[in-house]
Amino acid sequence: MESRPLAPALARLAALLAGLLAGPLAPAAAWATPFPPCTPGACTLREAAARAGIAIGAALEAGQATLADPAGALVAAELSSVTPENAGKWQTLSPAPGVYDFAGLDAIVAYAEAHALRVRGHTLVWGRSNGPPAWLEAALAATPDPAAYLRALVREHAGTVVSRYAGRIESWDVVNEPLALFTGEPDPASPYQRVLGTGFIGEAFHAARAADPTARLFLNEIFTEFRDAKFDGLVALLRDLLADGVPIDGVGLQGHFGFGAPDRADLTAKLGALAALGLDVEITELDLPMLLFESAADPLAAQAAAYADVFAACLAVARCTGITTWGVGDGDSWLDRAEIFSFFAPNRPLLFDASLAPKPAYFAVREVLLAVPEPGPGVLLGLGAAALAGRPGTRPGRSARTDPATRALAPPTPPA
Ligand code: G3I
Repeated sequence: MESRPLAPALARLAALLAGLLAGPLAPAAAWATPFPPCTPGACTLREAAARAGIAIGAALEAGQATLADPAGALVAAELSSVTPENAGKWQTLSPAPGVYDFAGLDAIVAYAEAHALRVRGHTLVWGRSNGPPAWLEAALAATPDPAAYLRALVREHAGTVVSRYAGRIESWDVVNEPLALFTGEPDPASPYQRVLGTGFIGEAFHAARAADPTARLFLNEIFTEFRDAKFDGLVALLRDLLADGVPIDGVGLQGHFGFGAPDRADLTAKLGALAALGLDVEITELDLPMLLFESAADPLAAQAAAYADVFAACLAVARCTGITTWGVGDGDSWLDRAEIFSFFAPNRPLLFDASLAPKPAYFAVREVLLAVPEPGPGVLLGLGAAALAGRPGTRPGRSARTDPATRALAPPTPPA
């Protein structure tokens, strides 16, 4: 087929699009004109990430979820997503059987809604640390049928929490870290695994799906990025769960790279392997402590390059829909309080320093995001068609790309 000059065709397409935007699409033009002004060097991470088609977030504590808090003000200005660091955990929410205190999680969700931030719910069922409620073991010891009791309890907890925020929390870490810390085997320390076997995972996901069919449901895992055996165990677990009809929409690779700096190609391959299962993927708890970079000539530049690698890996995989750092400023990091890493404190693992000033890593991330080419007319037309069909486009932070080079944008919220 002879090759025809492209320019006339593009000109015709542009004219068609202009006509659509001025005519039948005019009422929906707010959806179909998706590109917020984004002048390189003046962009926020929020604008740059939206332009690249992903959400960018940080973990917050309930007390930070206000513009009166410097970290809360920074997240509202610079980011598009927030994850409750501790407010949504079962132990935090439920001080006694059947008793719930939602004040902290309510505060974070209300703050997010006030500032058009996506919320990643974290986390319904986690078998380690302060995941399980403090009263669980005593309750299990007191019941004649621990399995029946725990199965019902998991369903009730997931249903109670997810239904409270139905339509308000965009995605949930339904189950966090079901595998052992450093292997691909089920976690022997988990009371859920001990009493119910791996079946507890399906119980939680089915209950969450029933409570809010609009939420994306994630399985979230730690330390798989640099431990291939654990990653292989995660993939095997996901295949089994999906084959059993467990309603999983996505996988979170946490991105706590304290044991080894990210390898861009390897991370891209891992994200791609998970996407190939038909799942969305996100980097859900990213931090890159300075202990990884101390031997570099310029440690902060080396940290910036590592952050750029992680973002580039996500942007290379169409179903990677967001990246969240685990904390806002370096003064927030759990690493400075954690068993192994507190020895290296201050770990300084985040995009903003302890006074919330942007670090070289912030600018490196923005550069990677702005390097994503403007979506072509085909994507624009796709957005226009979506608007015409009355679909308001994908939810914040959920974007699908029409081709590897570009991404459909999550359209901006139309003017009130
Ligand atoms: O709020 C209490 C405070 O009132 C009390 O005085 C203090 C001392 O006991 O404890 C405070 O609670 C601590 C909480 O962090 C808030 O700082 C808990 O003891 C402590 O266990 C909790 O640690 C959290 C850890 O998960 C365990 O839940 C970290 O902040 C949090 O960053 C960390 O995050 C996890 C993710 O949820 C899952 N992936 C791994 C990641 C790192 O462990």
